[in-house]
Amino acid sequence: MSTEPVDPEVATRQFARESLAADDPTGWFERLYSAAEVGQAVVPWDRGSAHVLLSDWIATAEPDGTGKSALVVGAGTGWDAELIADRGYDTIAFDISPSAIETAKRTHPDSKAQYLTADLLNPPAEWHRAFDLVVEIYTVQALPIPLQPTAIRQVGEQVRPGGTLLVIAAARDDDLPDADIEGPPWPLTRAAIDSFAIADLRLIQLDRFPSPSDPTVLRWRAEYLRD
Ligand SMILES: C[S@@+](CC[C@H](N)C(=O)[O-])C[C@H]1O[C@@H](n2cnc3c(N)ncnc32)[C@H](O)[C@@H]1O
Repeated sequence: MSTEPVDPEVATRQFARESLAADDPTGWFERLYSAAEVGQAVVPWDRGSAHVLLSDWIATAEPDGTGKSALVVGAGTGWDAELIADRGYDTIAFDISPSAIETAKRTHPDSKAQYLTADLLNPPAEWHRAFDLVVEIYTVQALPIPLQPTAIRQVGEQVRPGGTLLVIAAARDDDLPDADIEGPPWPLTRAAIDSFAIADLRLIQLDRFPSPSDPTVLRWRAEYLRD
């Protein structure tokens, strides 16, 4: 038997390929996180800290979450949710993978955030327009392109009037055809970023930053406000 270490990106793609072939586009997240729990995989996006574009936003905007609520979408192992909860927001962080949620709770035993399993594509009704701050990082792009419009709509629908939505996503050119993207991930076009701004949600700030590890990779940070 080979003892060669398996590249985590390759292992992740394998989980994803199998799920997608079985017409189960979100099943691979649980398989990946549960394998990681027992040391048989590495979650490639688990940075062990909050996303730098979220930390920067927090450092600049200095939001005071006291008396406010926040929802962290596709929260994974919870590093972003911890940063938000530490700002005083009453924070719910959810993920479709029960093992991700278990890992988040174990990693942050003294957390002020509430971690739970839920599906962005079919979220609890009581979340509808209930949150002062919604944070979405890399979840929509982890879903196949045909599912993205529903995911984008559901992200926005959880923001209450007067509330803020923050989206961080890998960027791709609008003229790159969907068929040329071999996801996951399926990075978001400018048109996809604009499509969060439906109903009375307005795009108020959009930046595109090069990735520190690879400047040819660009990431969106988009901020929206619900009137
Ligand atoms: C690429 S990871 C990003 C995780 C985290 N936001 C981060 O930036 O590190 C995508 C996350 O979304 C979760 N996810 C995928 N589809 C989901 C869905 N339909 N509802 C909730 N979470 C979902 C996955 O389990 C995974 O944790």
